[in-house]
Amino acid sequence: MNTIRKALIPVAGLGTRFLPATKAQPKEMLPLVDKPVIQHVVEEAIRAGIQSLTLVTGRGKQAIENHFDVAFELEDVLRRREQKRDLELVQTITHLAQFAYVRQGEPLGLGHAVLCAEHTLGQETFALLLGDDVFDDEDPALSALIAIHRATGKSVVGVQQVPAAHVSRYGIVNAPLQGDQGWNVSAIVEKPHPEAAPSSWAVVGRYILTPEVWGHLHQIQPGVGGEYQLTDALARLAQDGRLAAAAIPARRYDTGNKLDYLKANVEFALRRPDLGHDFLTYLKDLLAEKA
Ligand code: UTP
Repeated sequence: MNTIRKALIPVAGLGTRFLPATKAQPKEMLPLVDKPVIQHVVEEAIRAGIQSLTLVTGRGKQAIENHFDVAFELEDVLRRREQKRDLELVQTITHLAQFAYVRQGEPLGLGHAVLCAEHTLGQETFALLLGDDVFDDEDPALSALIAIHRATGKSVVGVQQVPAAHVSRYGIVNAPLQGDQGWNVSAIVEKPHPEAAPSSWAVVGRYILTPEVWGHLHQIQPGVGGEYQLTDALARLAQDGRLAAAAIPARRYDTGNKLDYLKANVEFALRRPDLGHDFLTYLKDLLAEKA
């Protein structure tokens, strides 16, 4: 039975695109309105049926572990002040799922970060979610990949089309046939030049990986940027005919990128029943002022 119970979320990167905010705090703890990015990612995994989460952390990432742990002093104060709703909000986070943490001593690349968790995942197929890619919570993201894995038994990459000028930022796969939502991957390249890209379908932070990936990860050498690239292991799966792509039908925000982060905050705030109306009025007034 192809049930996916475990997920891996690497959060050990340095977040250099978001300096200076990330000098002393993880980018994954930056909030979308009032909820940290990493909690959005964890909640997406849980909605897709995941029960157990392993996070790959590194130096300076303790705030993430603390966020999903019991906050004894805070809970005690909230209890004494009878702030029941706040207490519930804080306690719910701790009980979202089972959490485990492994460390990546040096940020040597995504392929290396995944390999650090091999012993916790063993011979079980798992979901991989990048800790800074957030999708709209009203649409399926990870569950779209799980459906393709169930149909094919293969590892799956989540993909979306990006502008041609952006293909050099992503892993790029071959295009689908007309109208396909899932297809076999015969080519995957990391950060290609636009002229050399097989298509404009980019891998966007969601994967289903079968245990076949471990053998390939052990064999890869440093690639683009001197990092151990997960894409190089996925290229070997593709060569063996063991990789599929799933189109993700959800809006995506790369919150490690400043402009995308700002867009995500505006859109998430506008959808909030407690803030949306006042915030929209403010934005309209601001735009009228600037026009
Ligand atoms: P990114 O390339 O987006 O993250 O990696 P980064 O390296 O932190 O960001 P910049 O480019 O310097 O701003 C995608 C995901 O993989 C994790 C990151 O934490 C992020 O969630 N990652 C990356 C690791 O865990 N370890 C690594 O060695 C590299």
